[in-house]
Amino acid sequence: MKRKWLAAGTGLVSALGAVLFLGAGQTQEEDVASGGEQESQSQPIQFPHDTHAGQFRIDCQYCHFSAERSVDAGIPPVETCIGCHREGLVAGRTHPEEVAKVREFFESNTPIPWRRIYKVSDHVRFPHLRHVAAGVSCQTCHGQVQEMGVLESVAPEAGDLKMGWCVSCHLERGASRDCTVCHY
Ligand code: HEC
Ligand code: HEC
Ligand code: HEC
Ligand code: HEC
Ligand code: HEC
Repeated sequence: MKRKWLAAGTGLVSALGAVLFLGAGQTQEEDVASGGEQESQSQPIQFPHDTHAGQFRIDCQYCHFSAERSVDAGIPPVETCIGCHREGLVAGRTHPEEVAKVREFFESNTPIPWRRIYKVSDHVRFPHLRHVAAGVSCQTCHGQVQEMGVLESVAPEAGDLKMGWCVSCHLERGASRDCTVCHY
């Protein structure tokens, strides 16, 4: 946990600087465009990937910071969000009520109960770090996340997470197809 805090802290100053700099040139039109996609309410906060990873170019691993060193990519804790969304910082021009929820979770010391989307069965082992090290991009498996609004389901252009999908890529790229490598 401590390592995660440190990792979140070190990138913060530069990422926030970049965000504030880029933010200066934004127009109203762009706000309306990204806000319009947020219709469904199945996530506790309507978190837009296109705004963060697309428009403001925040690196995937700034938030999913364990992807390169752990089995799980990880969902960032609310502390990562509050670094930019604290009172007096980014308030949200099109959906301030969603940013207000971020502050409420932080103040009440409650983890945000995100609904999980990508999941394989418990008998399967999927190590993010091995794929990141082999140079497989996030988009190869999750689609163009930086262009997506609120994530609700597995992207149509992403894999179906079934065994055939894993094995055919392993065959293509010369990775192991040994049963015990993927199964406990
Ligand atoms: C500002 C922080 C932030 C950035 C930057 C970010 N994400 Fe996320 N990501 C989140 C949060 C919070 C969630 C959980 C809510 C959700 O599912 O949208 C999430 C969820 C996801 C999920 C679904 C996880 C699940 O539930 O199975 C994927 C896949 C994902 N992100 C990929 C990416 C990729 C790829 C990028 C870069 C193009 C990226 N993210 C950039 C914060 C971020
Ligand atoms: C590095 C800075 C940064 C981090 C970290 C960050 N955000 Fe943001 N966020 C922004 C910026 C910039 C905007 C765009 C604000 C705007 O257009 O007014 C934004 C917009 C939003 C919006 C939409 C607001 C609107 O008006 O449309 C929500 C909701 C949001 N963020 C939630 C989160 C959550 C949840 C996290 C943590 C998982 C997070 N943010 C992490 C910078 C950040
Ligand atoms: C080779 C395909 C592949 C690549 C590349 C990949 N993922 Fe994943 N991702 C998956 C699979 C499969 C799952 C479900 C894993 C599970 O259930 O254990 C997943 C789950 C996730 C989750 C859910 C929560 C978690 O901790 O695992 C997030 C977030 C995520 N990926 C983000 C990313 C990001 C960011 C990148 C790039 C740095 C990335 N993924 C690269 C296939 C991939
Ligand atoms: C788009 C291509 C791609 C997909 C899809 C993919 N993998 Fe991989 N996988 C790789 C590559 C490349 C490596 C790295 C091989 C190496 O390090 O030599 C790898 C490595 C692994 C390893 C480590 C193998 C070892 O030798 O220790 C495991 C376990 C694994 N993948 C499981 C999975 C599972 C489970 C899925 C499906 C849910 C999956 N992979 C989907 C490309 C993929
Ligand atoms: C590259 C990773 C990978 C390899 C190698 C692999 N599997 Fe799988 N296997 C999976 C995934 C992913 C699933 C689907 C899990 C899910 O539905 O969430 C799966 C599912 C299964 C299932 C459950 C039935 C089903 O189809 O969903 C069985 C049984 C199985 N595998 C046996 C094997 C055997 C035997 C081998 C060796 C010949 C093997 N697997 C090799 C990844 C792999």
